[in-house]
Amino acid sequence: MGYLLILLNVLLVFLVVAEEDGIFASGKSEEEEVVFDKNYKVIWGEDHAVSLNQGKEIQLSMDKSSGSGFGSKMSYGSGFFHLRIKVPDRDSAGVVTAYYLTSQGSRHDELDFEFLGNREGKPYTLQTNVFADGKGNREQRLYLWFYVDNIPIRVYKNKSNIGVGYPTKAMQIEASLWDGESWATDGGQTKTNWSCAPFKAYFQGFDISGCEEEEEEVVQASNYNNTPSTLSSSSSSSHCASDKYWWNAQRFWELDPVRQKAYENVKSKYFTYDYCSDKQRFPTPPLECS
Ligand SMILES: *[C@@H]1O[C@H](CO)[C@@H](O)[C@H](O)[C@H]1NC(C)=O
Ligand SMILES: *[C@@H]1O[C@H](CO)[C@@H](O)[C@H](O)[C@H]1NC(C)=O
Repeated sequence: MGYLLILLNVLLVFLVVAEEDGIFASGKSEEEEVVFDKNYKVIWGEDHAVSLNQGKEIQLSMDKSSGSGFGSKMSYGSGFFHLRIKVPDRDSAGVVTAYYLTSQGSRHDELDFEFLGNREGKPYTLQTNVFADGKGNREQRLYLWFYVDNIPIRVYKNKSNIGVGYPTKAMQIEASLWDGESWATDGGQTKTNWSCAPFKAYFQGFDISGCEEEEEEVVQASNYNNTPSTLSSSSSSSHCASDKYWWNAQRFWELDPVRQKAYENVKSKYFTYDYCSDKQRFPTPPLECS
């Protein structure tokens, strides 16, 4: 399987593209390719992460003893994020390759892409999810197709005016390879085939177009008058919303008619699950689904 280039406009649109074109037109040449160590570090399973090609590529592997994961050194209040990912081939049932943004601390925000492996010859599922203020349960699932150039696959609108959570916290970028055999494939009925281990995933493209921001709001009682004071500004008033950042331009905040059409097409042809239409789980559809 070739590399999938994942693009993510953190505030609105999830996109999956297979080649550098269109929006992602920065066209870095081989020599300019940013090395892993500049922006990222391995955060768990150190002995299952290998640097390749002078640090321009990272291989994560998973066997019975461990998987592995890495994350960005900094947190970002806004940005346009991408990573080229090669998921484990052949029998990858039960194996989850994840690429996500997550804030730290309580009531966290998170935006997920999870590639759920499958038996050899059966399609991968891509699951997306959105957590805002600690609340998730917003899964959508789809099958991928051959060319996935610049096609939006998830849209999450700001409906905070009707009480729906919307991610606002600064987030770190993380990626990992881990065992999800209890849930990932056919609801956990298809198990990881450990005789195919170690499973390997590869990652490239470690440059980051993002606005760095301090992790989280620190609230503590001030010493003398007993009123709480917020020490660092909340992200809604953050400098990261500034229009001096190209990814904050209006055209990245909504889909143009061509992309809207492409998104509708993906929804009708490739979606296999949408929490919005899961009546058993949500007899009354969640507010954001209307
Ligand atoms: C989301 O919408 C609310 C209410 O309309 C607005 O106050 C807030 O600034 C919006 N957030 C972002 C990140 O645009
Ligand atoms: C697991 O993989 C081995 C080796 O490739 C294969 O012979 C076996 O049939 C696989 N098991 C299942 C349950 O698919």
